[in-house]
Amino acid sequence: MEKIKMDFMGSHHSYEILIDNGILDELASRIKAVYSHYKVYIITDKNVASYYLEYIKNLLKDDFIVNEVIVDGGEEAKSLQVYQDVCLQLLNMNIRRNELLIALGGGVVGDLTGFIAATLYRGLPYVSIPTTLLAQMDSSIGGKTGVNLGNMKNVLGAFKQPSLVLIDPLVLKTLPRRHYNNGMGELIKHACIGNANIIKMLYQQDEIDTKIIYQSLMVKRRFVLNDEFDQKERMKLNFGHTFGHLLELDKKRFDLLHGEAVCIGMLMAIQFGIDLGITEQSCYQKLQYILEKYQLPTTKVNYQEYLPLITKDKKNLAGTIHFILIKDFGQSLIYDIFESDL
Ligand SMILES: NC(=O)c1ccc[n+]([C@@H]2O[C@H](COP(=O)([O-])OP(=O)(O)OC[C@H]3O[C@@H](n4cnc5c(N)ncnc54)[C@H](O)[C@@H]3O)[C@@H](O)[C@H]2O)c1
Ligand SMILES: [Zn+2]
Repeated sequence: MEKIKMDFMGSHHSYEILIDNGILDELASRIKAVYSHYKVYIITDKNVASYYLEYIKNLLKDDFIVNEVIVDGGEEAKSLQVYQDVCLQLLNMNIRRNELLIALGGGVVGDLTGFIAATLYRGLPYVSIPTTLLAQMDSSIGGKTGVNLGNMKNVLGAFKQPSLVLIDPLVLKTLPRRHYNNGMGELIKHACIGNANIIKMLYQQDEIDTKIIYQSLMVKRRFVLNDEFDQKERMKLNFGHTFGHLLELDKKRFDLLHGEAVCIGMLMAIQFGIDLGITEQSCYQKLQYILEKYQLPTTKVNYQEYLPLITKDKKNLAGTIHFILIKDFGQSLIYDIFESDL
């Protein structure tokens, strides 16, 4: 088993992320170690429920009184309407302020449940069981929770750390291929910005194992720990995202999930860096090889076409764009571009 301890400097909350094939079989004892009451409330989506809800309930039934709330899957579940529905259902079940929520699902269920845990009664404890590679690789660290407002993503939210995260790679066996790819984009991004050794492992292995997941999460941990509230270092996690977001939005030309767009976005950022004389030339072909090996998109897109559109991205503060480049695998930097230069 791989274990990651999340300790935030200057704040009182710390928690563990445990990664192992079959770790969910230990669910009841793992929860007991962080929670001393009897009632738990599982929040999940219909899809995940059809695969795993009975299994999870069986694991918990001898030790807990288990309640459940099931939402429709998909990004639509990250809405104020669904947030309200779930809160009302929990209140109708007489949930108390010290009782535990369990997020069972992908990033959508994770963000929604985390936001409820941050806000209902001004805060409840929650345990996270991420079931997509994206949720395991990305949203399980960092404490960002939230919902969308209209078509604006993640504009309502809070930072809320879980009491425990259990990552069981075995649940990924039922994940559809494209959703798997979605998480691979973030995993490879972590390798690019913070750990060249993961690139080596991706070269040598054919499958993603607990060691790769662990190493990749450790990169995110490093960037998040000293920057809990997203001020500077965390920006490096945006590698591949500046262009990636633009491709994701360019529906006329592309049909890409977030992580897939990040794959092409990373290639564009590397080409940009090479042209600026910052990025080591060989990075482009190496990354392209890895993306192809894992059947991820490698469409060649000219970054120059998208440069002028960057200024419109809401993630940028007015005036300066903090663009993330790599010098080589494992070494990232923030490169400031002035809007007036574009
Ligand atoms: N909080 C953060 O730091 C953070 C980071 C990255 C992304 N996100 C958010 O995550 C969301 C996307 O998450 P996602 O890609 O996991 O999408 P998702 O939660 O919608 O899951 C994708 C699909 O896979 C299904 N699914 C989940 N687990 C499965 C399994 N094991 N087997 C079979 N099917 C399964 C779901 O029902 C859904 O249909 C976005 O809303 C994004 O904003 C949050
Ligand atoms: Zn991302």
